[in-house]
Amino acid sequence: MGILRRKVPVPPAVEVRDSRASPPTVSTDLADGLAIVGTGLAHRYEGPSGPVPVLVDVTFTVPRDGYAALVGPSGAGKTTLLSLIGGLERVQTGTLSVGGREVATLEGDELAAYRRTTVGFIFQNFGLLEALTASENVELAAVLAGERSADRRRRTAELLDAVGMMPRAAHRPGALSGGERQRVAIARALVNSPRLILADEPTGNLDADTSDEVMELLEALHRDRGCTLMVVTHDRGLAARAAQQLVLDRGRITSVPQVATGPTAGR
Ligand SMILES: Nc1ncnc2c1ncn2[C@@H]1O[C@H](COP(=O)(O)OP(=O)(O)OP(=O)(O)O)[C@@H](O)[C@H]1O
Ligand SMILES: [Mg+2]
Repeated sequence: MGILRRKVPVPPAVEVRDSRASPPTVSTDLADGLAIVGTGLAHRYEGPSGPVPVLVDVTFTVPRDGYAALVGPSGAGKTTLLSLIGGLERVQTGTLSVGGREVATLEGDELAAYRRTTVGFIFQNFGLLEALTASENVELAAVLAGERSADRRRRTAELLDAVGMMPRAAHRPGALSGGERQRVAIARALVNSPRLILADEPTGNLDADTSDEVMELLEALHRDRGCTLMVVTHDRGLAARAAQQLVLDRGRITSVPQVATGPTAGR
């Protein structure tokens, strides 16, 4: 699949944060999204008092231009499923393909590249390195992906700007609020222009306005670049913005057919 370069304007809600006259742009690689197909996935953890079955029989499809909300009660296995898709947990039972490739067959450097550049993972607990500043946390993800230093500095600055974090770029995570850490984690997940964005409660620590801005940024990447977007949320309003809702309960997924009201409506 060809990857072209083009400029994508940051959505207006994000521009509001920026006081400069000309709107900022995020230059990105134009990438097609990747379809996710899970079939009969089962997953268990080894707990202190024996195996903990989490996923029992999970079957679902998110199309390559998809925008899916993953919902379900706490402990249902949403983070587990996202971790399987992101290559952070190994598939135990069943099959999982992303862009036609079985995730279970990825090993070594290929698996590392998949995690670092194909997938942009926004962790529920941020996963920022405490010893590094906000800016260094974002840039490190690009260093690990082998980006040239001029490119990664530019991308880091663009993304910190887009999430309204330039004024705090030199702060370490311990000197950031929860919502600010969240936004740095989002910038880091996007720095390598991923084709698949996996966001685990990306707005869980944000106020309503910032939450809207963050969702609009993620949705713009989906809409304008064609990234596949999968968002875990407990917020019904946010879930309703997605083109597709996957409900995870008692180890199984039920899809809720719905009329899209979000940015993918009418596509
Ligand atoms: N490493 C682990 N070892 C043992 N059990 C685990 C491990 N990680 C998760 N679990 C258990 O697996 C279950 C599913 O966890 P998971 O984090 O996927 O849920 P979740 O749907 O993301 O919940 P939440 O909405 O609270 O984030 C939970 O009961 C949890 O206690
Ligand atoms: Mg979770």
